[in-house]
Amino acid sequence: MPLLEMKGISKEFPGVKALENVDLTLDKGEVLALLGENGAGKSTLMKILSGIYGLDAGEILVDGQKADINNVSDATDLGISIIHQELNLIPDLCVYENIFLGREIVNPVTNRINKSALKEESKKLLKGLGMDINVNETVRNLSVAEQQMVEIAKVISMDCQIIIMDEPTDALMTNEVDRLFEVIRNLKSEDKGVIFISHKIDEIMEIADRVEVLRDGELIGSKKTAETDADDLISMMVGRELKEKFPKLKMKPGNIVMEVKGLNVPGMLKDISFNLRRSEVLGISGLVGAGRTELGKTLFGVYGHTGEVLIDGSPVNVKSPGDAIKAGIVYLTEDRKEEGLFSDKSVAYNMTLAKLKDFTGWMDRVNKDEEEAEVKDYVTKIRVKTPSISQTVENLSGGNQQKVLLAKWLMTNPKVMILDEPTRGIDVGAKVEIYNLINRLKKDGIAVIMISSELPEILGISDRIIVMHSGRITGELEDKDATQEKIMHYAVNIQGV
Ligand SMILES: Nc1ncnc2c1ncn2[C@@H]1O[C@H](COP(=O)(O)OP(=O)(O)OP(=O)(O)O)[C@@H](O)[C@H]1O
Ligand SMILES: [Mg+2]
Repeated sequence: MPLLEMKGISKEFPGVKALENVDLTLDKGEVLALLGENGAGKSTLMKILSGIYGLDAGEILVDGQKADINNVSDATDLGISIIHQELNLIPDLCVYENIFLGREIVNPVTNRINKSALKEESKKLLKGLGMDINVNETVRNLSVAEQQMVEIAKVISMDCQIIIMDEPTDALMTNEVDRLFEVIRNLKSEDKGVIFISHKIDEIMEIADRVEVLRDGELIGSKKTAETDADDLISMMVGRELKEKFPKLKMKPGNIVMEVKGLNVPGMLKDISFNLRRSEVLGISGLVGAGRTELGKTLFGVYGHTGEVLIDGSPVNVKSPGDAIKAGIVYLTEDRKEEGLFSDKSVAYNMTLAKLKDFTGWMDRVNKDEEEAEVKDYVTKIRVKTPSISQTVENLSGGNQQKVLLAKWLMTNPKVMILDEPTRGIDVGAKVEIYNLINRLKKDGIAVIMISSELPEILGISDRIIVMHSGRITGELEDKDATQEKIMHYAVNIQGV
């Protein structure tokens, strides 16, 4: 008997058929991956299972018994827990409080919460995940990867029989992913069931026993990972073969648009100098902590710095993001939840935000109709899956939220566009669309700086690559000479530049 059966699940939101007659089974000791394009319905199916959304039709059986899941505590009682795609921690509480929220250990004698027991237990859990995090630290002060690990620790500690992980590796680096996979293998050996969602097909091939593929809210099929391969899964997922994963547009770069000379930020960046040409894609690679995001943010005026930045030959003084936008420099953040989007506002509001605030005074307010037309144009161009432009952003799937953010900056007509991990959480088909979009920027003469942790992406899209280590540039490679090995060589800084 399967541990879990979901039968004929359907779910509709206003204007969106999110799921249509979907079946899912999970055995004890099985790792099942869910694969599908952005907006295919993966998170929705898991939210139904974990009691966050009700279902319109269908039934759920746990251990062969019909389960009536009406809210989160129903699901918890059945031993089902979920690690959400958009993290669900309370930023102002500290680590151990978050882990044991609502399940505090009470001292039976004094009837008070036994804080030291909670802290001890939290320490142990995190250690088991190989994390050295101070359990008294406020969650807000942790990196996204650390927060992800805390969330994982929280769910593991609940000792559930069905564990759902919705894109848990999105913010993690290779070694952290390895640790998570160890945890998953442990859960497996304890006969628990794990549902694992990821856009990274190599991860799925490594950790999952079986894959279910969803497309537009329907189940396309199920395959054992041992009996399939990446190309097969991709074509099931997008409904066609993806011929070119990196459609790079070869163009002769134009004039120099940006010059950076001796940029310094105490404790962050040391003596950064480079040039950037129109229609050029400059990739920035390096390991975590190399200073890539810091460089992007400094050019966007987030951090005070010394050194010179010139745009079209004239020095610009970027002391704030407002200054940067005026100079034609924009930065797409890697952290869309904290910094990028107003998730309770509409698609249209978010897309036009940077444009309105910084480019029009009250006197020359853009025409509403024109603005609407432009938003609609972008929604079509980059295929944002939304029933309308007035849809609230938090109701879009993760990947589509990323596209809204991208559109927001495109609409400001920048000269230099800095993209920090622009395809994180984006499905393989939509990735190609984003690369095509980068090609369009190139054609329009825009210069692109692309920060990415994925080496195939850096190699596949960049015309030139700068590698960083400890806040410095340790190497530069032309497209034709670049290889993964050479990048890694500079990233670990073997020569000690
Ligand atoms: N609360 C909601 N209100 C309205 N529409 C919603 C809501 N939640 C999800 N949707 C819509 O349902 C569809 C499925 O979304 P879902 O989040 O399940 O996709 P996903 O497969 O998880 O995508 P991703 O890979 O981008 O995370 C999308 O069209 C989404 O916009
Ligand atoms: Mg999702």
